[in-house]
Amino acid sequence: MALPRIDIHTHILPREIPKWKDEFGYGGFVVLDHHMPCRARMLKDDGKFFREVESNCWAPEQRLRECDQTNVSVQVLSTVPVMFSYWSKPQDGLAVARFLNDDLAQSVASCPSRFIGLGTLPLQDPKLAVGELERCMRDLKLHGVQIGSHVNDWNLSDPALFPVFQAAQELGAAIFVHPWEMMGEDKMQKYWLPWLVGMPAETTRAICSLIFGGVFERLPKLRVAFAHGGGTFGFTVGRIQHGFEVRPDLCAVDNHVAPKEYLGRFFVDSLVHDREMLRQVVSIFGENRVVLGSDYPFPLGEDRPGELIESVAEFSFETKRKLLFDNALDWLQVERSRFSI
Ligand code: CO
Repeated sequence: MALPRIDIHTHILPREIPKWKDEFGYGGFVVLDHHMPCRARMLKDDGKFFREVESNCWAPEQRLRECDQTNVSVQVLSTVPVMFSYWSKPQDGLAVARFLNDDLAQSVASCPSRFIGLGTLPLQDPKLAVGELERCMRDLKLHGVQIGSHVNDWNLSDPALFPVFQAAQELGAAIFVHPWEMMGEDKMQKYWLPWLVGMPAETTRAICSLIFGGVFERLPKLRVAFAHGGGTFGFTVGRIQHGFEVRPDLCAVDNHVAPKEYLGRFFVDSLVHDREMLRQVVSIFGENRVVLGSDYPFPLGEDRPGELIESVAEFSFETKRKLLFDNALDWLQVERSRFSI
């Protein structure tokens, strides 16, 4: 019998998105153009095409059908990072987040034994973000939030964001860090490089910021997971460690604990598309800290979530169980009994 699977990295959208440009009086927001049945174009409201999506992006019942086909027991839902809208005015960012979170909570409520929800926060205003985080956890019964790899001019080490992480620890909210607004994007438009090169670099930036900024050190109970196997962090951690040792004047200014000490402290998903890389990821971050993530329903994701994990001959049954299921329960702090498996 197939092992149960919790997929911690899946994206969802509301079926309809309000025309926020009209409501707020300025542009830059994403709209959905349902140009044919079961398909929609995600457009910036200046008309610029972002991505074509299908109805599995918004229809919970279709998602469940596809989960049944791929043996996924539970999906952890989060919005599409382009929706973060951190660049908008704070109150407008809050309105966007509330709308997305209410919709996402409804999808979870449609089948709570198979969906878990992560909200989004107006991080451009940390005070509003803390308020929305409380609402997500207490009223909407979500299990945490998805955040971007940076927030406008702030890296995740910025003191302005610390109260949000502090609140997440206090509320027991899991945090999923997803790359977005990729560095160098303007200069590498060709060959899909923002996704192939920029995203893994963004994730590395986020991990280094939380380590060097002392966030992990000051908040030992904060539970954070990073997308895409932690980006390039695992493969450059030797360099990062060495940098810390030879130039503490640059690297150890806010936290004196060496980067490698944090391996095993945070989670990464399994989305690396390569068997040998996945073995490395498990070896570097630890078999208790890698969780299944597929990026459903997008093309850079794993079509059959968990297949890569299952395919690694060197992994024991116990290791596979951890990667496919147990570690996700640990990160989310959910009881297995919530699910009908
Ligand atoms: Co994703």
